[in-house]
Amino acid sequence: MRRCVVIGSGAREHALAWALAKGADVVVTPGNPGIAAHGITCVDTPSTELDAELFVIGPDQQVVDGLADALRAQGKTVVGPGADGARLEGSKAYLKEFLASANVPTAAYGVFDDEGEALAFLATMTPPYVIKTDGLAAGKGVLVTRDFDEASSDVREKLSGRVFGGAGQTVVIEEGLDGPECSLMVLCDGTNVVALVPSQDFKRLSDGDAGVNTGGMGAYAPMTSLSPFEFDEIMERIIAPTVRELKRRDIDYRGVLYAGIMLTSGGPKILEYNARFGDPETEVLVPLYGDSLFDLLLQVGEGRLEGPSPAATGAAVTVILASHGYPQSPRKGDVISGLGADGQLEYKVEGVTVFHAGTAIGADGHFVTAGGRAVAVTGVGETLALARRRAYEGAALITFEGRVMRSDIALSVA
Ligand code: AMP
Ligand code: GLY
Repeated sequence: MRRCVVIGSGAREHALAWALAKGADVVVTPGNPGIAAHGITCVDTPSTELDAELFVIGPDQQVVDGLADALRAQGKTVVGPGADGARLEGSKAYLKEFLASANVPTAAYGVFDDEGEALAFLATMTPPYVIKTDGLAAGKGVLVTRDFDEASSDVREKLSGRVFGGAGQTVVIEEGLDGPECSLMVLCDGTNVVALVPSQDFKRLSDGDAGVNTGGMGAYAPMTSLSPFEFDEIMERIIAPTVRELKRRDIDYRGVLYAGIMLTSGGPKILEYNARFGDPETEVLVPLYGDSLFDLLLQVGEGRLEGPSPAATGAAVTVILASHGYPQSPRKGDVISGLGADGQLEYKVEGVTVFHAGTAIGADGHFVTAGGRAVAVTGVGETLALARRRAYEGAALITFEGRVMRSDIALSVA
């Protein structure tokens, strides 16, 4: 049987491993207890010491740190760009310079490491103000606010290096854009691209998009409100020039290019690129591709990706269950009820899979929360309405003290 290594330890990696296991033998490093309970092998061995036909890197930090380069130097086949391609995610200042030279539509901006200059530029902007930390900041480096004083303090805080250390000491100040957001992940083998179905994630903590930004509280796919015209516009005006620019810079980008897009009245504009699979978007995407994921990702790694886009079937909705106090100070150790020894629903709901993000096995053998997002509950069905009903039916069966969950994931579209 073909063998594949997935690198990472969250619900995204659980979903990837679960989907890849339909076409290959999968090992996850380091994985987590919920993945292991699901019958997928987890090992502590570093990926550079493992052998497999294919390596898939989940977390942003490892992609940015050049893990793909280290693995390729050993002759391995990898899904994940090298450190050069990952700069699209790793530095917002680099991203903006890249987009400008590729002529890709994005918000107007300035890059600063001097406080006086940054504040002077901010004063020329109109609300909403958008302040971004240059480097990786675990999804917490972006402030969008209408309050000028809050924006100014954020610039000072970030530039002081107190919040994000070195990653924060350069800021990007952007024009505030408005419109619905879309997550579009494309697979790229360095030359060819194949788009996966568009999805939407829910970044804010509470219903109605209230509360603070989080790593993501849920997602759904496909994003049916994205018209074929808008999709083509994104491919032609954003993705195609990006891939041309990567080539022009001699960057052999083999991996997932994840575009965070805002559909403004002036057309689609790119907010960010990620150099990896999205989380929680992966939890809604992979169930739609049946058993084709391994072959598809192998084509990416080997640089022989062929169109057309693979067929996706049905719809999926993911609901995140997070620990008490998430995201500021998540509590650990709350006993989770409703899960069996395999980490899946004790009382099965058709079409539901539980992907573990942050769980541990407690003293009495039950799953407990291990901080942050605990599990992602994905429901699939022929329609978004059915997928949504199943996801929430499954989520209702998993309870723990202080559980944080949004009740409106995909509500307006299902
Ligand atoms: P990013 O990590 O750059 O995608 O930013 C995180 C979130 O901040 C995005 O999903 C948007 O909701 C919001 N955001 C980022 N850039 C802008 C912008 N220029 N205008 C309005 N909102 C933005
Ligand atoms: N869902 C947002 C991300 O993966 O960065």
